[in-house]
Amino acid sequence: MQGPTFAVTNRVPESAVELLREAGDLRLDDRQQAIPRVDLLQLVAGVDAVLTLLHDRVDEELLAAAGPQLRCVANVAVGYDNVDLEAAARHGVTVTNTPGVLDDATADLTFGLILAATRRLAEGDRLVRSGREWSWGMGFMLGSGLQGKRLGIVGLGGIGRKVAERARAFGMEIAYHSRHPAPAEVEAALEAERLPFEDLLAGADVITLHTPLTPETRHLVGAAELEAMKPSAVLVNAARGPVVDERALAAALAAGEIAAAGLDVYEHEPLVEPALLELDNAVLTPHLGSATVETRAAMAELAARNAISVLSGQGPLTPVASQ
Ligand code: DGY
Repeated sequence: MQGPTFAVTNRVPESAVELLREAGDLRLDDRQQAIPRVDLLQLVAGVDAVLTLLHDRVDEELLAAAGPQLRCVANVAVGYDNVDLEAAARHGVTVTNTPGVLDDATADLTFGLILAATRRLAEGDRLVRSGREWSWGMGFMLGSGLQGKRLGIVGLGGIGRKVAERARAFGMEIAYHSRHPAPAEVEAALEAERLPFEDLLAGADVITLHTPLTPETRHLVGAAELEAMKPSAVLVNAARGPVVDERALAAALAAGEIAAAGLDVYEHEPLVEPALLELDNAVLTPHLGSATVETRAAMAELAARNAISVLSGQGPLTPVASQ
C-alpha cells in the first residue's frame, strides 16, 4: 500500500525531514523565505498532511486547493493565528501547533529585550559603532535596574511562566493578568498576583505580552493603555505584533509617555512602523523568539510527529482543534 504524502512549506531542520521521509513521501519547498502563495497552493495539492510556518495563511482557499484527502495541518509554531480553524473544521482537517518546546527560548529572548530596553544596550551599541565621542560619567547613559521592580505579565501560559522564573532570579515581583487564574501552585511558586488589566498597566515597571492573537487581543495595548502606564515603564512584545497598536506605541515613546519598548514582533511583519525606526528607546529584533538551533529542531520534530500520528490514526499529540 502506498504511504501518505507530506508537504513542508519551507526549509526545516533535517531531523524533522528524516521523520517524514521514513513515514511516507515528502514534498519539500526548501526556500528559507516565505513561499509565494501560488507555489504554496500547488505544493499542497493532493497531500495528506502539511507542515506550515506562521506566515503561511491556511484558509478556505488553501484547504480547497489541497483537496479532500488532507487530514492534518501541523503548524510549526505555538501561535496559530495564520490558520482559519473554522475552515479547517469544515474540511475535517486536524490542526496542531508546537506548545512547550519553545517556552525557554522565547522567555530568554523576552528577558534579553527587557534587559536591552532597561539598560539601553542597543542604543549603546549604536553609539560605540558610530565613532562618536563618549566617555564614562556618573550620569552617562543611565538605565533602570530590575531588582525590586514589578513585572506585569499579560498571559501566564508556558512562556509567561518561564519569563516570570527568570524575573524572580533578577529580584522582580510578579503580577499578571489573564482570563483564568493560573493554578494555585504556579501562583505560589512565582509569588504571582493576578490583577485586573487596568491595575496591571498602572502598577508595573515592565509589561510583557504573552497572549495569543485573537479578535479580543488585537490592539490590546493602544493609546489609552500606554497612557495608563507609568512614564518610567517599559513594554515588551514577543507574542504577536497586532496585539500592540504600533503607531500609538511610537507616539507614546516619542512623547515620553513610557520610557522604552522591546519588540520582537510587528503589526505588519516584516514591515515596521517607520516612526519606531527613528527612536533610540525602541529595541527591535526580527521575530527571534524561538530562533535557537535546538528549539527550531524541537518545533519541527513535534510538528512532524503530529502529522505522522494523525495520519496513522493515533490522533494528534498537541492539537489545536481536531475533528
Ligand atoms: C510561535 O511559535 O508562535 C513563535 O512566534 C515562533 O517564533
